[in-house]
Amino acid sequence: MFSDKDISRFTNLETPFYYYDLTLLQNTLKKCASAANVYNFHVHYAMKANFNPTVVAKIKSVGFGADCVSGGEVKQAVELGFDAGKIVFAGVGKSDKEINFALDQDIFCFNVESIQELEVINELALVKGKKAKVAIRINPNVDAHTHHNITTGLDENKFGINSWDLPACAEVLKKSAQLEFVGIHFHIGSQITNLDVYKSLCTRVNEFANWFEERGFTVKVLNVGGGLGIDYHNPDQQIPDFEAYFKIFNDFLEIKPNQEVHFELGRALVGQSSSLITKVLYIKNGKKKNFVILDAGMTELMRPALYQAYHKIENISRVEASSVVKYDIVGPICESTDCFGKEVELPETFRGDLIALRSTGAYGEVMASNYNLRNEVRAVFTED
Ligand code: LLP
Repeated sequence: MFSDKDISRFTNLETPFYYYDLTLLQNTLKKCASAANVYNFHVHYAMKANFNPTVVAKIKSVGFGADCVSGGEVKQAVELGFDAGKIVFAGVGKSDKEINFALDQDIFCFNVESIQELEVINELALVKGKKAKVAIRINPNVDAHTHHNITTGLDENKFGINSWDLPACAEVLKKSAQLEFVGIHFHIGSQITNLDVYKSLCTRVNEFANWFEERGFTVKVLNVGGGLGIDYHNPDQQIPDFEAYFKIFNDFLEIKPNQEVHFELGRALVGQSSSLITKVLYIKNGKKKNFVILDAGMTELMRPALYQAYHKIENISRVEASSVVKYDIVGPICESTDCFGKEVELPETFRGDLIALRSTGAYGEVMASNYNLRNEVRAVFTED
């Protein structure tokens, strides 16, 4: 939903650009923070969803920590002022350089994804004379019922340590003097809209927490990852139901005294706060197809080409339609998958019209590339 003022402002700006509604972002963050505070839950923002410094600064200001998946993200989090004691670092392939950098920052913990990684962190910490805090990322084999390409918690996925490797993992933890075990970590997938999935996750978390406790480990942190989805079909229904989400964990996790529950939310915090604003370059009307050719393509927004992801497409220059036409909405890139939507009904559309691709705040700008030597996509923010 854009105001007339927004649209006349967009008309004077060079397209394409990501438009961020910082007021909506702020409101989303506040809702999430207050819903989490009810249960004293800790939220780490998943930087991978959007690391635009202006966006991240807003997120930091509500007191969330940062969930990082590369040395670059850890660096960005530190530089943007996140408290190192609130930074977690996951990823199946952390390089020695990245581990060393994170050790130097004294981050809150490494979410460790293999036994070998545990051994390497122990060795590198020893060289530095440091203790490394670690949480074990466990692959719980829980189906997230989301898109195959963004499912992470099944046996077939590369993420986390499988349950049958936990006895060996416990042995390594016991004999590694530089490692301090803080807890267990999970992340089963992204864009999860069926909240029952999280009930199944809680059951598994309880089982694994007990498993470690029975073997003499103190499980201080239960990190359940992120994954809460947004409603791509109704982009104006903007704030996810954080209350319902957190309540599930409160109801279904067996939280012991002194245990902390941590979350790593990305998409749900930033997804609805941005749209990709692009202009119609050409219309091609054919016998079989009508094409709207935009000045933004898969180089600016990769999700439709990569996951057949849906983003609502709106012609914001023509709110009142004289007639409705079905178009394939495509970009300028020399790839047939450079298509944002097929048979999309829009008001009859003309060269120069502004098109909004909605709900692009998460995994939009950060996944842009300069394939075809495209320019870097710009970001525009709400004016105060
Ligand atoms: N924690 C870990 C360990 C993760 O791998 C992820 C996302 C998150 C947290 C945050 O998940 P979220 O709350 O945003 O769902 N590019 C894909 C999504 C990939 C998600 C990768 N991991 C997309 O555009 O749909």
